[in-house]
Amino acid sequence: MAKIIGGITTSHIPAIGNAMANKQENDPYWQRFFAGYEPVKQWLAEVKPDLAIIVYNDHGLNFFLNQVPTFAMGCADEYRNADEGWGIPEMPPFKGDAPFSWHVAESLINQGVDMCTCQEMLVDHGFTVPMALMWRDLPEWPVKTLPFAVNTVQHPLTSAKRCYEVGKALRTAVESYPEDMKVVIIGTGGLSHQLQGERSGLIDVEYDIQCMDAIVNNPEWMCSQSNTDIMEKAGTEGIEVIMWMVMRGALSDKVNVLHKHYHAPISNTGAGVLLLTNSEE
Ligand code: DHB
Ligand code: FE
Repeated sequence: MAKIIGGITTSHIPAIGNAMANKQENDPYWQRFFAGYEPVKQWLAEVKPDLAIIVYNDHGLNFFLNQVPTFAMGCADEYRNADEGWGIPEMPPFKGDAPFSWHVAESLINQGVDMCTCQEMLVDHGFTVPMALMWRDLPEWPVKTLPFAVNTVQHPLTSAKRCYEVGKALRTAVESYPEDMKVVIIGTGGLSHQLQGERSGLIDVEYDIQCMDAIVNNPEWMCSQSNTDIMEKAGTEGIEVIMWMVMRGALSDKVNVLHKHYHAPISNTGAGVLLLTNSEE
């Protein structure tokens, strides 16, 4: 049986990709940010997951504004990134697992989560930066992947509550796969940021911390936050935090916090790291 062994959250911003590509991890600006990932990398090295579900939003590389699915997932054996104009290098291809993906898609759709399935999918910084943060020091990607894209760009958007429900269905989907497999789920994006308009540069540390606490201990509160509530506090792009709720829904109601870290600012954002495991077995 496949099993979700833990959940991680992380920022996905392109500046992190460039900092890694340029080996700036120990620069004063970056040092504390990257230090926040050491316990996560250690845990991953110990538990050795077989597959990572990366919950991210595409920012215009694979889905442009003319065609934007609310929830889409990769059903391929390989995924590649491509130049987005930020200077992040092209990375070695990421392994997929098409039979696993199709199982997950079928289970989700049977549970009422009407997924868009993609047999071809370019993955952008929302996916590649978290992969590099977790595993860049290794000679090759040690996990297979399932890219799980949530539209957080083109309104109308889905909600924190819906993402939480989808996460619960995702857990059922994964844990009904007959093959033994250790799966980790990574929610990416956030935290507060707004990249345009009068409020560009907005970061709300207090709200970020409140969301991180609620995601761990009181996901129902996060579900009660409307998209307007989130965008008023966290900025228009701060809405990316709803993707963390897919990760949270895929874990048990109570979770163990193995690691928690927050740092602001990184580029224009507050950046949060959580490492959670199921506490009800
Ligand atoms: C930044 C944040 C994002 O979420 C993103 O997708 C691109 C850039 C930033 O703050 O630099
Ligand atoms: Fe983003």
